[in-house]
Amino acid sequence: MNDSNSILKALKALEAEALDAIKTVSETDDLERLRITYMGRKEGSLSVLLRELSTLDSSERPAIGAEVNRVKDIIQNALKEKKSELTPADLIADSIEDLTLPGRFRWMGGIHPVNQVIDEIWQIFRGLGFTRVRGPEVDDEWYNFEALNTPLDHPAADEQDTIYLNIPSPEYLTSPLLRSHTSPVQIRVMESYEPPIRILAPGMVYRRDTSDATHTPAFAQIEGLVIDEGITFLDFKATLAEFARRFWGPDTKIRFRPSFFPFTEPSAEVDVKRQLTMRDGTKVESDWIEIMGAGMVDPNVLENVGYDAERYTGFAFGMGPSRIALLKYGVSDLRLFFENDTRFLAQFSRGPLG
Ligand code: PHE
Repeated sequence: MNDSNSILKALKALEAEALDAIKTVSETDDLERLRITYMGRKEGSLSVLLRELSTLDSSERPAIGAEVNRVKDIIQNALKEKKSELTPADLIADSIEDLTLPGRFRWMGGIHPVNQVIDEIWQIFRGLGFTRVRGPEVDDEWYNFEALNTPLDHPAADEQDTIYLNIPSPEYLTSPLLRSHTSPVQIRVMESYEPPIRILAPGMVYRRDTSDATHTPAFAQIEGLVIDEGITFLDFKATLAEFARRFWGPDTKIRFRPSFFPFTEPSAEVDVKRQLTMRDGTKVESDWIEIMGAGMVDPNVLENVGYDAERYTGFAFGMGPSRIALLKYGVSDLRLFFENDTRFLAQFSRGPLG
């Protein structure tokens, strides 16, 4: 039978040894090893001693039990203290266990609302088999106008509307400018690839415009181009109608109004009428709103890139995602999208990646 004195002695020795060992440790790994040595549930010295309590006379147990607990507390505190001594301050702060403390504020970026709209539109066309491409924002008269069947005496090519650049460079065969639409990407793609072509080209375009609620000198456009054998006006209408229904919902109506662009023939302006649901559940139709310019690619354009215009046909469209974002989010002034006021932009933030 064990006597209580020998257990008390062993406890004292254990206490002294453990505190000494903990004091000299300088690595968290070593500290953990000590914790297991002394406090480990199975083989830990303290647990082993605790088990010996059962061999004592029951009258002696409470006093020794209290002593075991005292030593246990002391070792535990020493381990804890040493641990915080070895742990960098910021890790200690993170391990504070008061879950009611407010979280740490982090600045988090978000995807710009216009880019969110571009992404949504891209996802739809991607599903229809389009490839996403981009062209240069600094381009020249050939790509921006002439190759697109637009003579330089056309009003759009006027210095009043187009921002010409004063950078004489051998890179440009004709006058360099900031592209005034994304249509030059049509030419660049057709120059480099043979049909079939199905591309979507989002990007910024520039015009000599004064800012107001509906105009900004820099804005985004999304160009689309489809060229292959046997592409008809029906493909054109069906593709754009499918896009409108996927973007605004299955009840969206679409109409094509005759229009004119030098690079498409026939040309159309495309309007949509959205089905809106009111708060009380009743459905109303929106007004017709114009979402894009479009048309069947003019044979002259196909010839300008060396395509056989007898063999290939196609359609093109250009839309303004900023305008579409205005409608989608009920924003009344286009300039808000470009002023980068974070109080405005944060409303469109959807989380760490959007
Ligand atoms: N580029 C035209 C514009 O900026 C839009 C358009 C694109 C029209 C393609 C027809 C075909 O207004």
